[in-house]
Amino acid sequence: MIFGASGLLGRSMMRAFEDWQVTGTSFHRRGPGLATVDATSPHDVLGVLGRISPDVVVNCVGERRPEAWASAPARARELNVEAARLIAEAAHRHGASLVHLSSDYVFDGTAPPYRVDARRNPVNVYGRWKLLAEGAVREACPEAVILRLPVLYGPAEYAAETNLTQIARQVGSREPVELDDVCVRYPTHVEEAAEVCRWLAGAHSKGQYIGSVVHWSAEHGFTKYRMGLMIAEHFGITPGRIKAGAADAASGDRPVDCGLDCQGLRAALGWPVDRYRMFADEFPQVVAPWVRTA
Ligand SMILES: NC(=O)c1ccc[n+]([C@@H]2O[C@H](COP(=O)([O-])OP(=O)(O)OC[C@H]3O[C@@H](n4cnc5c(N)ncnc54)[C@H](OP(=O)(O)O)[C@@H]3O)[C@@H](O)[C@H]2O)c1
Repeated sequence: MIFGASGLLGRSMMRAFEDWQVTGTSFHRRGPGLATVDATSPHDVLGVLGRISPDVVVNCVGERRPEAWASAPARARELNVEAARLIAEAAHRHGASLVHLSSDYVFDGTAPPYRVDARRNPVNVYGRWKLLAEGAVREACPEAVILRLPVLYGPAEYAAETNLTQIARQVGSREPVELDDVCVRYPTHVEEAAEVCRWLAGAHSKGQYIGSVVHWSAEHGFTKYRMGLMIAEHFGITPGRIKAGAADAASGDRPVDCGLDCQGLRAALGWPVDRYRMFADEFPQVVAPWVRTA
């Protein structure tokens, strides 16, 4: 069962788990195979888990849009923290394995790469909620696996759905644009993250112990400015209008570099090198529709 199956990561999860018997949940969006569930309602969460009785639960519910943290902080906190607790309690009660999605923003970004047991010290409200959620999940469902991820990119439903497609829109508009050249991000393909989660869920449900907290991330880090230049170069856009800027303050304090140490999970997966998705190879296909329509 995938909670939050209509979101960026949840949609890829549904594809990654398609040869399992899978039920997805959504809230505002509707679609085939999606049950409407309010993850902040104990009645809804316990009800759907009781009906479906899944072996594995993956929680992709969250509120990661900075504008929502500012305009409706109580609601955003409820989705990031309380919903995580409810889903964890329900998974535990029904004996389902749980994979909970967390973020590299639980770290302060001053001393990468961060091991799974590194000190968590979030610098913004989203990171603090993700930290609280990790604690709530651990308390409610001690056997849960917490999977921390960095910023994701992949097929987007609208330009603002991912950082990368947003940058593509800005670069494609051919208007002057200033992009953060301070904060380093490790854009990771959402389908790779979903595939890793599927592997993790399979291993966990068979009783294979991988770790209670695991990290997954692409290896290469880029600032938004670097990503903008790569897009411009690939699509033959003159880079002159793209300026290197200071840290993006639109979303409050941002950690500078939260690079994740993924050695544990990489070793456990044992994937050949050519199975990893390289940003430089993948980004053109992902951003093409947004560069062209900008
Ligand atoms: N995207 C990233 O770059 C990134 C990076 C690191 C970690 N993560 C973590 O990965 C998880 C998934 O992120 P995402 O990017 O896929 O998020 P997303 O695209 O914003 O999707 C959020 C999901 O939550 C659902 N939802 C919203 N309100 C709900 C409610 N009241 N009850 C039930 N479901 C509700 C949404 O459903 P509707 O749209 O149908 O309402 C949607 O399916 C989050 O925990 C996030 O912190 C994401």
